[in-house]
Amino acid sequence: MHKLAIVGGRPLAGDVRISGAKNACLPILAACLLADDEVTVGNVPHLRDITTTIELLGRMGVEVTVHEDMRVAVDPRPIREYSAPYDLVKTMRASILVLGPLVGRHGRADVSLPGGCAIGARPVDLHVAGLRAMGADVEIVDGYIRVRAKRLRGAHIVLDKVTVTGTENLMMAACLADGETVIENAAREPEVEDLAGFLNAMGARVAGAGTNRIIVQGVTRLHGAHYDVQPDRIETGTFLVAGAITGGRVRARRTAPQYLEAVLAKLRAAGATVTTGPDWVELDMGGRRPVAVDISTDPYPGFPTDMQAQFMALNCIADGVATITENIFENRFMHALELQRLGANIRIEGPTAVVVGVPRLRAAPVMATDLRASASLVLAALAAEGETIVDRIYHIDRGYECLEEKLRGLGADIRRLA
Ligand code: EPZ
Repeated sequence: MHKLAIVGGRPLAGDVRISGAKNACLPILAACLLADDEVTVGNVPHLRDITTTIELLGRMGVEVTVHEDMRVAVDPRPIREYSAPYDLVKTMRASILVLGPLVGRHGRADVSLPGGCAIGARPVDLHVAGLRAMGADVEIVDGYIRVRAKRLRGAHIVLDKVTVTGTENLMMAACLADGETVIENAAREPEVEDLAGFLNAMGARVAGAGTNRIIVQGVTRLHGAHYDVQPDRIETGTFLVAGAITGGRVRARRTAPQYLEAVLAKLRAAGATVTTGPDWVELDMGGRRPVAVDISTDPYPGFPTDMQAQFMALNCIADGVATITENIFENRFMHALELQRLGANIRIEGPTAVVVGVPRLRAAPVMATDLRASASLVLAALAAEGETIVDRIYHIDRGYECLEEKLRGLGADIRRLA
């Protein structure tokens, strides 16, 4: 198990280059299955989840070539398998994203049920209901979602809940369906918009992505294309919090400030000076202690659940008391138990955590439980007195490219232990 050793107390300063968005790249790589030609995807982040997806596509017989600059060429034509096996899906539940493209392009898919994870049950009932509405036969048998359809037909789908990958799966399935599909109560996340941009680059006719009503006119085929993945807004937010929690000054480059409005508003409320340019965001904390800020997570454009753990770490050392309410997932406070080991004062009351800021955290061995929880432990360690050892950081490698190198570039005392 890889560990990270972090000596806290240093204000971070400098520039950090933001990578491509994991949660845009995953559906975009899956969407390559819809094409009748080779497609290339640029600005692909070098992450465990990406290599898992590339392995999944390879197992299907799809040809994937990774170029040195992390451009990925995908040729779906040699496909011979239409399934996503449990041994891969259990390591990355986003494998569910091959469901829509496989059924939309080939009329069949056998995808392992993703099962739950540390943060919640993670059901896929809305994915299944949408495919059934489009005329697919769906059975759940032996832990697999088995889907068959001659040709999907356009449907008017109303999603009971806002689901990001549910919206993405149904949008992809609708591209080659017969007729028009309307997805109401669609997720509005920027990653959904990025996927729609890629689909349209391949000749799809998707309108309304980024709003809660997406309309897809089915076409007969999708051709090849090149597309660059948008910057990762959650990685950006994580590094800005790293600047805030250490009282430093961090500029995130090659990012998209327009996708971070809710997060930037909370950083300003915490006392940071935040300035933005077309593709950069600078946070300057000026050595000040952050002010406690209340957080309540919501679907985009509300405050992102993927930034909740990072702001809990910030509130741990803030001046004042803050409440953090997690409205998206039922068990996304695992990091609170580990933060308490560093001296944090946190009380969990159902979906709400009450955080009483303390002047200083103190180093202790802690353990990562999920991707964003591990990020919050690294952030807290950057502010804690002494050397903190963060264990099970394979969670981090799933979603952050070269985290310790990027943090070292900002002046952090951080190293990976075998
Ligand atoms: C996506 O997960 C992201 N993952 C998550 O990021 C993110 O936290 C989440 O959206 C919310 O923004 C990817 O994009 C790969 P949902 P997803 O379906 O699509 C319920 C990270 O850290 N629901 O939007 O799986 C569900 O239980 C990860 O990068 C159903 O009830 O999340 C949850 O309460 C973690 N039935 C809510 O909807 C369904 O069929 C939102 O889940 C689907 C979802």
